[in-house]
Amino acid sequence: MAKNTIKVNLHTEEIPTKWYNILPHLPPGYPPPLHPKTFNPPPSPDLMQLMSRLFPKECLMQAASSEPEIEIPDEVLQTYVSVGRPTPLQRATRLEKKLGTPAKIYFKREDVNPVGSHKPNTAIAQAYYNMKEGVERLTTETGAGQWGSALALACCLFNMDCTVYMTRSSYLTKPGRKTVMEAFGAEVFPSPSDRTDAGKKFLKQDPNHPGSLGIAISEAAEDCFKHENTKYSLGSVLDFVLLHQSIVGLEAKRQMELLDQYPDIVVGCIGGGSNYGGFSYPFLQDKLKGKRKDTRYIAAEPTAVPSTTKGIYEYDNGDTAEIVPVVKMYTVGHTYQCPPIHAAGLRYHGKAPSMSYLIHKGLMESRAYGQREAIEAADLFAKTEGFIAAPETAHAIKATIDLALECKKTGEEKTIIFNYSGHGLLDLRVYEEYRSSTLKDFEASKEMLEAGLRALPKIPA
Ligand SMILES: Cc1ncc(COP(=O)(O)O)c(C=O)c1O
Repeated sequence: MAKNTIKVNLHTEEIPTKWYNILPHLPPGYPPPLHPKTFNPPPSPDLMQLMSRLFPKECLMQAASSEPEIEIPDEVLQTYVSVGRPTPLQRATRLEKKLGTPAKIYFKREDVNPVGSHKPNTAIAQAYYNMKEGVERLTTETGAGQWGSALALACCLFNMDCTVYMTRSSYLTKPGRKTVMEAFGAEVFPSPSDRTDAGKKFLKQDPNHPGSLGIAISEAAEDCFKHENTKYSLGSVLDFVLLHQSIVGLEAKRQMELLDQYPDIVVGCIGGGSNYGGFSYPFLQDKLKGKRKDTRYIAAEPTAVPSTTKGIYEYDNGDTAEIVPVVKMYTVGHTYQCPPIHAAGLRYHGKAPSMSYLIHKGLMESRAYGQREAIEAADLFAKTEGFIAAPETAHAIKATIDLALECKKTGEEKTIIFNYSGHGLLDLRVYEEYRSSTLKDFEASKEMLEAGLRALPKIPA
């Protein structure tokens, strides 16, 4: 393929047929999840019982697998293809020119499916495994509504019911996402809601509570425990979710090979870490095996929820009501009051345990950006490349532009690749606020961080 090719498409039959599991390649000592009350690690019966009440067996087996490759079931592959996989890899030549950078910028198009983000990659797999095990209904949380619409789509395709708890701030500001979920047959409630004990508790504290992903997870998990034939589905953070997302990086790696390129810098935004983990791990496996050691891995998070840049690497609860397992991760604390930023999918207090471990070990880096500078970068991307990014993705674009400008200073012709995790066509309000100069920035204050970190669980030594 010519070096100046600006778009690489894979044929349908070139879709990867196995996911990449990074777990066997992680440095030794990866900390296990713990039960939220007893703090017992696997294989203690209380933790295993909790996990299997929430998730399908197959996903739990994947999370414990030491196989680096895991077969993608045929029906999942067919469904991936039917909703738009493989996705294109594109070069942002107009952006490069506008920046005057010698760097080459590539982006992986995860916006090209019915809901417009990477989220169907795991929604389809999770709904499929649940359906196979006879589960009839899935509950979940959603921040921006991207994950909720992906699970609603997957449940619709596999004939299952779906209930979504959507953080109230997004429920009010992103009504289009609710319409999408309902179009696929899901029921959607603003969280905190009066349908669960956890929701009622937070509503009592504040009837206009903006909600958080941590609270919505508690509500969805409680709903799952209280109903027969119902399981819970999580859109990020867990090892098996990142495994399903590895289809993104596997395709991108193949596409780069066709261009005879290997990235010097791999960029993505992080909410719980699933799009960036899925995108970067197939490349990072080379570094973990002692090859391609110079490639840098840079994750972008919001200054409003700076888990990896200002939080700590500790065991913390996955949800605010302390129902789901405790994991070791970079966190600002499960009670942290997440400001209502537009990138609602980045409002999660912690980051995926595997990614946190890699950052802790110095194998990945991270940077934090305010929403104004992120949207300014996304606005430039729209004006040069013609794509209006999701506010979450805007953080990856900002990091990419900064890195390309660093190359301009040094004159280095680096190859930068980022995950275009979703489009922003249902998030236009953030662009309107940016245009009218009313877009506010939120920075986590010392007091907010101290308050969030005070409530970490006390794990017995
Ligand atoms: C478009 C988009 N990008 C990124 C994210 C962040 O989530 P994760 O870190 O799990 O990929 C979200 C979450 O909703 C999203 O909708």
